[in-house]
Amino acid sequence: MNDITILGIFVADLSFSGDKIPVSGETILGDNYNIGPGGKGCNQAIAISRLGGKVNFISKIGDDDYGKLAINSLQKNKIDTKNIIISKKHKTGVAGIHVDKNTGKNAITVVRGAPTSLTKEEIDIKIIKQSKIFLTQLEVPLDVTLYCLKIAKEKNLINILNPAPACELSKDFFKFIDYFTPNETEAEFYTGIKIKDKDDAKESAKKLVNMGIKNVIITLGEKGLFYTNGKEEIYINASKVSAIDTTGAGDAFNGSFSLGLSKGKSIRECLELANRVAGLSTTRLGAGDSMPTLSELH
Ligand code: RIB
Repeated sequence: MNDITILGIFVADLSFSGDKIPVSGETILGDNYNIGPGGKGCNQAIAISRLGGKVNFISKIGDDDYGKLAINSLQKNKIDTKNIIISKKHKTGVAGIHVDKNTGKNAITVVRGAPTSLTKEEIDIKIIKQSKIFLTQLEVPLDVTLYCLKIAKEKNLINILNPAPACELSKDFFKFIDYFTPNETEAEFYTGIKIKDKDDAKESAKKLVNMGIKNVIITLGEKGLFYTNGKEEIYINASKVSAIDTTGAGDAFNGSFSLGLSKGKSIRECLELANRVAGLSTTRLGAGDSMPTLSELH
């Protein structure tokens, strides 16, 4: 039995790094590339596993070359592949990622492929019910996501929703969520509050708590993070790193935060761990491939 179950997508990330992110109509010469595991769910699973955690990953891929990359990457990272559904009809997804190597900022297009056809019937709910924590994002169909959150809540799991990429959510979602972890752009989508500093983050997080979410963590990139449950407030500065690619930093954060919770750490300890892991993940190119190992934390 694994403490954490993740529902999410695998896609092959094709990352291109150069002096800038090209604008429409422009061709630039880049200087580095990486083809590796991506998709928020997959990255979060790798983050947990590389830190020594045991995680179930529920996903759907195609029966193709990128599907083989998925299985190899997961196995290499010691993640069980028995909950990976292989579709004969759909392709494995791909993401095209442009990275500005000077700032680490990126622009991403994700074509999800097989997971768009994922259905409730395909999910092995036993796996969720036997866990302590259910972690998911907004990259698989929303009806399947809501169904799994509901099942997890009925069994008293801790539900973590990383609302990325941001999209309209019915009120039903909020009652099943224990931790809501948007970045500043996603928080603005849900609250309408533009976040420029810590005070804006606080106002935005409070608005989310008033919408019925128990715990809100807004990640603020190089400005750190803000947490509140309506009573307690924690602000933590970002770790000091030389970022070359911020892709997957949010996933490093969510994965390691969940791992901390599953080990019974305090909220502050979980946030500090996640902040460090996210920072380290930005120091190399790629998303899943950039997740740090336990030994790098010491
Ligand atoms: O969070 C980063 C991830 O978002 C990338 O790996 C990309 O595939 C998209 O899903």
